[in-house]
Amino acid sequence: MATISLEEVRKIYAGGVEAVKSVSMDIADGEFIVLVGPSGCGKSTLLRMIAGLEEISSGTISIGDRVVNRIDPADRDIAMVFQNYALYPHMSVYNNLAYGLRNRGVPKDEIDRRVKEAARILEIGAFLERKPKALSGGQRQRVAMGRAIVREPAAFLFDEPLSNLDAKLRVQMRVEIKRLQKSLGTTSVYVTHDQLEAMTLADRLVVLNGGAIEQIGDPISVYEQPASTFVASFIGSPAMNLIPVSVRDGRATLDSETAAGGSSLSGPDLGNGTGYTLGVRPEHFVPASERPAGPGDLSLTVTTTVLEPVGAESYLYASIGGDSGATGATVTNSSAAHVVIRVPAAARHQPGEVLSFTATADRLHAFDKTTGKRIPR
Ligand SMILES: Nc1ncnc2c1ncn2[C@@H]1O[C@H](COP(=O)(O)OP(=O)(O)O)[C@@H](O)[C@H]1O
Ligand SMILES: [Mg+2]
Repeated sequence: MATISLEEVRKIYAGGVEAVKSVSMDIADGEFIVLVGPSGCGKSTLLRMIAGLEEISSGTISIGDRVVNRIDPADRDIAMVFQNYALYPHMSVYNNLAYGLRNRGVPKDEIDRRVKEAARILEIGAFLERKPKALSGGQRQRVAMGRAIVREPAAFLFDEPLSNLDAKLRVQMRVEIKRLQKSLGTTSVYVTHDQLEAMTLADRLVVLNGGAIEQIGDPISVYEQPASTFVASFIGSPAMNLIPVSVRDGRATLDSETAAGGSSLSGPDLGNGTGYTLGVRPEHFVPASERPAGPGDLSLTVTTTVLEPVGAESYLYASIGGDSGATGATVTNSSAAHVVIRVPAAARHQPGEVLSFTATADRLHAFDKTTGKRIPR
């Protein structure tokens, strides 16, 4: 086990792409860190630099108390698990697990002990003699994990290891990886573009945007206090509603209110200023009939468009504004004028219904309209 520390680590690829921009962070011994962000944000590059598969352009990477900038991948005491498994097709599962250890000159009986222990943990003991092509995707992924485990490394590095699996298996393997990591206690850095996978696995999330860290924190803190509109819209599904508002005469007013043809918002007043982006999670709306809006609360009148049941609950898509009398009188062509609201599974809304909701002041997020950064309240 080991700590991993990154100090102002950068990567500029030949050709000038700055894939990672001065990333600094400390990973604790035994911690499960998930690097999450959209495709191209630099996750794999950062992970590969920790692994030593990619040279760093500047900065320092330490594993334990050792600076590893100039240390070969093979000597960094880490094990990497890839999306495509990278198994040797001509070798049995046993030999796939044993291969790396043999190369390192580990004694035969020690190899046998480690392979059998990994096979027991991963429940792959029954097919140690099979070749990878005779295994299902989930079994192959387990063998790939087994190959990392037998190394008994200081850290595991995972690059989207579950991306090739179907949805059901992905959820199952996600739980297994978490259980395994907790029982082995091995420091882990896990890369994914899947926000749900990130939330469920991480001790701490690192949200990357364009090669830079947008926010670091435990999943619930990041979900509850997103540092920016980028994080707010990336973490959580359906995404947080982001509604541009202006402050006029000491009252927050929806930007599209005029177009909406009727007052539909009395929101929090953050003082003078030109305005801000108001954020509300879909689950934080309650029917106005149950909870009339008090001072600082948001009250919103909407016209429903689509009801999307997902089983345990449903999501109501609606446009802001209550004037549904004439077609096209409500706001269109602006994503800001639309909201998604979580409603009970039993809800049976039809398109065109006019409904009022409240979101209490403590559930409202405010972001700077220009920078997108969270405004502390
Ligand atoms: N070998 C390379 N040469 C040049 N640019 C690269 C190379 N690998 C990745 N990139 C670029 O660096 C950025 C980050 O890529 P990557 O780390 O693979 O992102 P992610 O894993 O988050 O999808 C992208 O813009 C990508 O096109
Ligand atoms: Mg990648």
